[in-house]
Amino acid sequence: MFDLSELPDSVLDCCAGGAGFTAEAAARGVDAIAVDPAYELPAAELVDTVRRSLPATAGIVDEHTGSFVWHWYGSPERKDELRIEAADRFLQDVSIAPERYVPGSLPELPFGDQRFDLVLCSHLLFTWSDKYDQAWHLAALRELVRVARNEVRVFPLVRQGGGESVPYLSELLDQLTDVRSEIRKVPYEFQAGANEMLVLSR
Ligand SMILES: C[S@@+](CC[C@H](N)C(=O)[O-])C[C@H]1O[C@@H](n2cnc3c(N)ncnc32)[C@H](O)[C@@H]1O
Repeated sequence: MFDLSELPDSVLDCCAGGAGFTAEAAARGVDAIAVDPAYELPAAELVDTVRRSLPATAGIVDEHTGSFVWHWYGSPERKDELRIEAADRFLQDVSIAPERYVPGSLPELPFGDQRFDLVLCSHLLFTWSDKYDQAWHLAALRELVRVARNEVRVFPLVRQGGGESVPYLSELLDQLTDVRSEIRKVPYEFQAGANEMLVLSR
């Protein structure tokens, strides 16, 4: 979803949730950190939350069947398998390297300026724009840029569920005056039409 062919020395996965990216990047020698408010939870509760969240995507897909495409995953069964593998990878890594999983919330992250070469953010900004407003998005994007040395990548650019576009996206980009922004196509697609990421760079 971020169209990554190689990884730089340090990467932040912001709002990583129960994803396996940080574990996989760390196994490749990258200084990889994940941040999420859920990491405040005691370990047993975090395990339980991740396990209980697994059927949640299936529920959203069932409610909006026409809004999803399967050429990336192949089938709902394969998607579920991959999701479970990623969750297992996360749960294993969080138990052996808890220092990689930092509690924190946008729009204020507990990291210094330009701490990471690359900052990734998936399925929070724009996805949850029913919950977070335009001012929050602007503050969140500025914060992601603050902790990035080179680039911020955000995916997708549409809302969860029906995949509606976010009406204030171009206004937001205009407000980021000191940052270069580009909307770039990616090979991944699950929500129909959600195949673009936002790339911000200094
Ligand atoms: C839909 S999940 C996405 C998880 C992962 N990035 C993925 O694509 O599978 C959204 C995540 O955002 C986290 N979250 C919610 N509010 C947040 C905030 N203000 N700052 C950072 N993360 C937040 C939630 O705890 C949840 O893990």
